[in-house]
Amino acid sequence: MTRTLALETIDKIGQEVALYGWVATVRKHGKIAFIDLRDRSGIVQTVDTSGKIKVGSEDVVKITGIVKKRPEKMINPKLNTGTVELEIKNLKIISKAAELPFPIDTDGYDINEEIRMKYRYIDIRRPRMTKNLKIRSQVTTFIRNFLTKRDFVEVETPMLTKTTPEGARDFVVPSRLQKGKFYALPQSPQQYKQLLMVAGLERYFQIVRCFRDEDPRKDRAYGEFTQLDLEMSFVEQEDILQLTEELFTQIVTAIFPDKQILQSPWPRISHKEALEKYGSDKPDLRVNKNNPDELAFSWTIDFPLFKEQSKDDFFYGAGSAKFAPSHHMFTAPHPDDIRFLDADPLKVRGLQHDLVLNGYEVGGGSIRIHRPEIQEKVFDLIGFTKEQKKQFEHMLTAFTYGVPPHGGIAPGIDRFLMAVLSEPSVREAMAFPTSSSGQTSVMDAPSEITEDQLKELGLILRK
Ligand code: AMO
Repeated sequence: MTRTLALETIDKIGQEVALYGWVATVRKHGKIAFIDLRDRSGIVQTVDTSGKIKVGSEDVVKITGIVKKRPEKMINPKLNTGTVELEIKNLKIISKAAELPFPIDTDGYDINEEIRMKYRYIDIRRPRMTKNLKIRSQVTTFIRNFLTKRDFVEVETPMLTKTTPEGARDFVVPSRLQKGKFYALPQSPQQYKQLLMVAGLERYFQIVRCFRDEDPRKDRAYGEFTQLDLEMSFVEQEDILQLTEELFTQIVTAIFPDKQILQSPWPRISHKEALEKYGSDKPDLRVNKNNPDELAFSWTIDFPLFKEQSKDDFFYGAGSAKFAPSHHMFTAPHPDDIRFLDADPLKVRGLQHDLVLNGYEVGGGSIRIHRPEIQEKVFDLIGFTKEQKKQFEHMLTAFTYGVPPHGGIAPGIDRFLMAVLSEPSVREAMAFPTSSSGQTSVMDAPSEITEDQLKELGLILRK
């Protein structure tokens, strides 16, 4: 017999069907047992009147039986299969389940996170987590359809690469073939996407993993997270803002119909005004912050191109130069302010745009520098040494072969989902996140490697 899903039983009254799934609950009333079966489509009640079936919660089973219409007063409005139940003819246990380490019929917020991560595959059985992952998949599918319809090309860029300076520490991977040398995992595909503009693709996107070694916060995953990275040629900032606004408005309409976008078009607030009026460059513009259905999108623009360098800017010299980029060093200066680059760099605005949602910075991007002499100037102002400049020589070289004006943005998928789902942490929107202490879910990493592996890589560990 072919498999029937729980939800399909509502259309199969009177028929014999075979269901496969997990035992969600067992309730006994004398000789009668009600066994709720769960599969990817939902839950359906099955009934054993023989009194002989022995089955435990979370066992994986095959149940065959006849679908029966429930009498009017037995209908369960809480289940999407609440109008029917299955009269069991046979129940076969395919796989027994041990007692779970924690309950999965609650929202789970009160359970220790390390334990949830250790048994993440069980934690995901929790309806809230299953729902979050399904919504995540709907969002990324929507994005792919939306952008490919508009002529964007999805390109995968390398994971074994050279450092991309986005302000965090790199994860490095030792090379076996070139001992003593290391790859860096990308903090974002920033340089590759700009090179793809030189390559003439004109419209690129990628739903891409980024790697950053930085202190985790509730809106910042440790280790890895996902961006919708996109870049366009022959555009102005306006085009990027409009495309992003249209994309996210459509995502909300299609996937989150209960949510309300408070203001449309989204307010655009200068960096200066945001600080003066709201005390933050990512203001929370919701009217009622306790109402999970309000979505207050806004843009923060006109950021200063540079900030004073601090000791946190280790990539740029940790205080050895006067300036560090406020976004990144490929961001273009505002054309009206280029004249201040020499005399008063802090006065120069950058063509940066931050996408803000409910007080979170959900995305960041900019129009890029495409003139090699301006890029050199910025390198100088942020105190790059000759060696550091050499690290980015490929960009300057590429820009000598015909580079279109270009710009883009990278909204964080995890952070957007956290905000729109009103989750307390980005990790609630990720399948297998790394814990806040840097431990991976389920698998015990980071872990030691063998002496032989070290030797092959030409590495000796410091004591
Ligand atoms: P930026 O560094 O601003 O820009 O990152 C863009 C967006 O990525 C998300 N994000 C994170 N999400 C979860 N955990 C993290 N640790 C984390 N770090 C960043 C945020 C953020 O707004 N290459 C540029 C983009 C560009 O200029 O086009 C970049 O990466 O939502």
